[in-house]
Amino acid sequence: MSDATPTEAHPEAKLLRLTLNGRSWLGAVEQHALLLDVIRYQAGLTGTKRGCDMGTCGCCAVQINGEPRLSCLTLAHDCEGAEIRTIEGVQSGPLLSALQDAWVATGASQCGFCSPGFIMVGEALLEEKPKPTEREVREAIAGNLCRCTGYVKIVEAFMVASGQAEPGQDAVRRNAKGDSESD
Ligand code: FES
Ligand code: FES
Repeated sequence: MSDATPTEAHPEAKLLRLTLNGRSWLGAVEQHALLLDVIRYQAGLTGTKRGCDMGTCGCCAVQINGEPRLSCLTLAHDCEGAEIRTIEGVQSGPLLSALQDAWVATGASQCGFCSPGFIMVGEALLEEKPKPTEREVREAIAGNLCRCTGYVKIVEAFMVASGQAEPGQDAVRRNAKGDSESD
């Protein structure tokens, strides 16, 4: 927990209380600070990335009270008392989550810069829909951009994490059939 308090150097700062990855966090935060900056520079959790800084890439996605949200468009003080989950809070002890495991197994990450945002959106999707169709996955990640992959491996990772495919199977094509059947 931060022990920061408003100082003469930061007269605009106000105390902000969060639950950050299950732990209480208290800090002196400028009134117009973005949640992204508080997470990265005050809480020191640099897994959340700044890509576009204007709401178009999804790299900065975190969960606020369980909902995926863009931290570059969120004022930190609007989150007073909220539960914030970042990529650092997805892992359970030494164990990766099923989606993180599948990300590795399928090669869904190349440079990796976009991966935290995809995974924060993806974890929320899998909590709501444990066995999503490919279409539901693609709709959920529509706000996340990746400049390296062709998205096929990313969608496959969701199919593997949800127990609908094994890594290396033609998971996307098999699931597309399921989508058309459910139309
Ligand atoms: S940095 Fe927030 S959407 Fe791109
Ligand atoms: S893996 Fe490089 S931007 Fe997605």
